[in-house]
Amino acid sequence: MTDIQELLLSRIRDVADYPEPGVMFKDITPLLADPAAFTALTDAFAEIATRTGATKVVGLEARGFILGAPVALRAGLGFIPVRKAGKLPGATLSQAYDLEYGSAEIEVHAEDLAAGDRVLIVDDVLATGGTAEASIQLIQRAGARVAGVAVLMELGFLPGRRRLEAALDGAPLESL
Ligand code: PRP
Repeated sequence: MTDIQELLLSRIRDVADYPEPGVMFKDITPLLADPAAFTALTDAFAEIATRTGATKVVGLEARGFILGAPVALRAGLGFIPVRKAGKLPGATLSQAYDLEYGSAEIEVHAEDLAAGDRVLIVDDVLATGGTAEASIQLIQRAGARVAGVAVLMELGFLPGRRRLEAALDGAPLESL
């Protein structure tokens, strides 16, 4: 493990039985409260944005907003929010996806992405991969390409990485 990985890991708090019994919640608020750790994370994500040739950064609601916005600024790129359905005022593209029980829907402003854009998707956690997969589909339906997916944490006991493989079509999935 690198020094940066050790620093980041030390600032993630495990909260047992939240939001329901049997779930170990990964709380990133200690990391956000530590400017050294938050800066290290932002720099690492910005390096991925530059290396993958991204032209825009997409953040996934809600923690992907907090992490993605400073990455966009650091890399000199625009930031695009992908929101839960019903929150964006303009013309949107929507993508539904399945949850364990039921389904969810995310949206992006159609005018925010265009052919020729290469998008880095930023989020805190990759779990089942459902949110990231739906985001990739949204970006592709807007005519843009996915430069990569960058997450702080990947839950390796879930099949998120495998789920994204086909949709990523060779673009990297990087978990710090
Ligand atoms: C969490 C997390 C990711 C997503 C990962 O967000 O921040 O966006 O779930 O799960 P998946 O890989 O199984 O799709 P959540 O839906 O809890 O939204 P929030 O950040 O608004 O609380």
